[in-house]
Amino acid sequence: MDKFVIQGGRRLSGKVKIGGAKNAALILMAASILGRSKSVIRRVPHLSDVVMQGKILQELGMKLSFGQGGRLEVEPEDSAPSVAPYKLVRKLRGSVCVLGPLLGSRRHVRVSMPGGCIIGTRPIDLHVKGLRALNADVRVEHGYVVADAPDLRGGEVYMGGPFGSTVLGTANVMMAASVAKGRTVIHCAACEPEIQDLAKFLNKMGARIRGAGSPTITINGVKELHGAEHEVIPDRIEAITFMLAGAITKGDVTVTHCRPEHVSAAIDKLQEMGAAVTKGRNWVRVACNRRLKAADMTTLPYPGLPTDAQAQQMALLSVSNGTSVVTEKVFPDRFMHIAELNRMGADIRKEGPTAVVVGVPRLSGAPVMASDLRASAGLVLAALAAKGKSVIRRVYHIDRGYERIEEKFKVLNGRISRVPDETGSDDEE
Ligand code: EPU
Repeated sequence: MDKFVIQGGRRLSGKVKIGGAKNAALILMAASILGRSKSVIRRVPHLSDVVMQGKILQELGMKLSFGQGGRLEVEPEDSAPSVAPYKLVRKLRGSVCVLGPLLGSRRHVRVSMPGGCIIGTRPIDLHVKGLRALNADVRVEHGYVVADAPDLRGGEVYMGGPFGSTVLGTANVMMAASVAKGRTVIHCAACEPEIQDLAKFLNKMGARIRGAGSPTITINGVKELHGAEHEVIPDRIEAITFMLAGAITKGDVTVTHCRPEHVSAAIDKLQEMGAAVTKGRNWVRVACNRRLKAADMTTLPYPGLPTDAQAQQMALLSVSNGTSVVTEKVFPDRFMHIAELNRMGADIRKEGPTAVVVGVPRLSGAPVMASDLRASAGLVLAALAAKGKSVIRRVYHIDRGYERIEEKFKVLNGRISRVPDETGSDDEE
């Protein structure tokens, strides 16, 4: 297990290249199950979650080959059982998106129920509802979702729940519906860029999908799909994380190879707080030479402020001038980072799905513990801005979703070292 040792207080400046989106890559990998021939996915980020999704695909009889520069070839190899076991699914909740393509291509599937995690309970009732609308018999048996659909047929389904639509649920229904008989209409579909990217890939594979990116998606089922070649969209959460790093260190950071239109909510919030933001076709520059103003924020499904950037935003608000109210409307329990930020001198109080952040002039370095992927990214930002040294333990959480984050920060003048955590996580620093 590694830890990060971070010397804070340095102004970050320079350019950083954004990689392929983790959450798009995971879905595209699952979609490749539907192809009768080889698919090539480019710009796949080298992340532990991607490696884990690869293991699950192999377990399902797919052959994978990772090449240079994020090139991944996936093709069906043998007819392994359509079972995604608990031992793998529990490590990666994103793997639940193999449900739709397996049902579509093999008409029978058993996928372990993902279970809850540190960010919330993660139910899959909407996935089940969506697949049932396609004439599938879906039930939960011994901790597994078991689905059979000898006669998979298009249907009409509303995918909204108490917290809006569901990204992976929408993906599952799109993938199964692509090879179902007849037409499917998904109402209240997730509009996230990862869903738009999936639709593009599926259409290249021979699917007939319209409306992805809007709340109504129409799918005209086809008999079968073939493999296709596709490049993963840039990671909007990685882009926002580095934009916020520029702001929190009163620096000047340009994120390149990104899609500014995918991060417009974050740009708007930074401007409201007083940062200078400029952008071009595929870059965004955030410059800031003074403490920013506090601002209220609410996470929402796309195109609202993403929940996956809430911890990083909160790190910035913790050193802003004034009091901010942060409301989490996607995963209302996603606040594990508050206690750790407070260890660094922040003044944050949680009240239900809301946090009240009283900005302090400066954080101070401290030993802290990463609890999940995005919470860890928030701690890295806080540590980069803090006075003195911080030690962040359990950085394997960060490696799930950020490729070589410490090297990217080094290019920007950040001082982060990755060192083996030989002393164990209970030691005092
Ligand atoms: N929900 C239900 N019923 C369902 C499914 C979801 O009530 O059947 C609720 C969830 O509990 C949550 C809300 O709906 O309150 C939205 O969840 P969603 O299903 O959209 O989340 P997801 O598809 O499981 C993906 C990302 C998450 C990201 C969310 C929201 C992947 C692999 N994961 O999860 O990413 O937070 O969408 O944008 O794509 C991360 O990258 O750190 C991460 C957690």
